Amino acid sequence: MKENIIPHSYQVSKKDRTNSNNHNSFLIWFTGLSGSGKSTIANLVEKALHDLNVKTYSLDGDNIRKGINNDLSFSPEDRTENIRRIAETANLMIDAGLVVCAAFVSPYKKDRENIRTIVKDVNFVEVYINTSLEECERRDVKGLYKKARAGEIKNMTGISAPYEAPESPDLEIKTEDESIELSVKRIIDFITPKLQLK
Ligand code: ADX
Repeated sequence: MKENIIPHSYQVSKKDRTNSNNHNSFLIWFTGLSGSGKSTIANLVEKALHDLNVKTYSLDGDNIRKGINNDLSFSPEDRTENIRRIAETANLMIDAGLVVCAAFVSPYKKDRENIRTIVKDVNFVEVYINTSLEECERRDVKGLYKKARAGEIKNMTGISAPYEAPESPDLEIKTEDESIELSVKRIIDFITPKLQLK
């Protein structure tokens, strides 16, 4: 089937879109345990970018696992497929000219490497939200850790499923040691040269 798919060449290119947006497009990927603060920080980063007139979009469990990926569980295989589809979605958004903020546990190194392959290295910024399991469990915003400890949730990352921490992320944010304002500023400072706002 694949051999019969011949790409159409469109008159408007990614370059045309980024030129009219006045900035580059890429993916900022937030990985970390459930409750680590990924979505909270991603949301503030998106707001800061939006205030700079950057065209953005956020992807997270709410808009992905309830929609396009509502057929997927938390088994290792389904998590791999979850991340693959998100990476392909983000790749389209990069082509559309957006800066994408994606917040997903993404516990497996090989899955995160696959994102890098799909969107290409130059378009991938990996941000490790490093909050200890103890702290995530203490916060337990969604009550999931309590349920996991009680055996009501299987495959809970950090409890009954692994989290493979990134070895050399572009940025590491230790939410227990630094303020959220400083975390957001460090991320914006890191990506500003990549934006190349004219
Ligand atoms: S991922 O591992 O496939 O990247 P994803 O980020 O989409 O996970 O979804 C994680 C969110 O789903 C968590 O923040 C949590 O709210 C919820 N969740 C429900 N069950 C689990 C589980 N077994 N392990 C981790 N997160 C879970």
